[in-house]
Amino acid sequence: MRKFSPEYLRRTREGMWDDSREALQDLSLSDRSRVLDVGCGTGELSAVLDAESPGEVVCLDADPELLRVAREATGLPVVAGDATRLPFPDDAFDLVVCQALLVNLPDPAAAVESFARVSDDLVAAVEPDNAAVGVDSTVSAEVALERSVRESYMAGVRTDVALGDRLPDIFEAAGLRDVRTRRYFHRKVTEPPYDELELEDAARKASGAGLASHETELRRTLSDDEYDALYRDWREMGRSVVEQMQERRYRRAEVVPFDVVVGRVTD
Ligand SMILES: C[S@@+](CC[C@H](N)C(=O)[O-])C[C@H]1O[C@@H](n2cnc3c(N)ncnc32)[C@H](O)[C@@H]1O
Repeated sequence: MRKFSPEYLRRTREGMWDDSREALQDLSLSDRSRVLDVGCGTGELSAVLDAESPGEVVCLDADPELLRVAREATGLPVVAGDATRLPFPDDAFDLVVCQALLVNLPDPAAAVESFARVSDDLVAAVEPDNAAVGVDSTVSAEVALERSVRESYMAGVRTDVALGDRLPDIFEAAGLRDVRTRRYFHRKVTEPPYDELELEDAARKASGAGLASHETELRRTLSDDEYDALYRDWREMGRSVVEQMQERRYRRAEVVPFDVVVGRVTD
């Protein structure tokens, strides 16, 4: 199981769902009574569910360290467990939902089957389409390097990180009906004045730490020479980012599309 740090989740989810919650419409949050957020991480989606629903929201994750952060951040009940073998009786919730979980599982279909077992009404997944991420930057090398790293990472990672059109099929194979998909675009803009997370991000680019955290996946598709060259170019790009930030002229925009898929349990 890939490990996620609380800082990574905070950085990648910053501002998500703040601009619009329209894509969550089919989750029917305003009339839910018991909601389970599977693979809740630090509780970023759990807090949104709690704000939008009158029902109780329960947070579940396999990582106890993240669960501790989720409990402190949201005050919601937390449960340790595996998404593919949920520790609840049949029909215990009227909505079971996850965000950015299925793309990290070797068998996403097994998780959706488990969701359908413990829900007596709705099942939903909010999953990034990592193949369609868009980046623009005042450091021109950043756009090409991020694309090349993303492509190599997707080829080297052992899970399907761009489920896209396959998600509705997985829902239907789990017996879910009336399957609907909406799209949410998570837009992030970095521009002056830079906040603490943005400064940290730039420092991680310049030190190579951000790239090194994907070293295992990247080395599966790149030769040693290719990885070393990429690492060198990446750090150089990072130093240009830091330099432009010091001169307050760095600007970066990123759009990550998320598919919101919702299905209904049938008897
Ligand atoms: C990318 S994070 C997403 C966290 C959160 N849903 C969010 O959107 O910020 C994936 C989460 O799934 C959890 N996870 C991975 N495999 C799991 C499994 N088999 N059962 C339960 N949780 C799992 C990880 O610990 C991590 O918290």
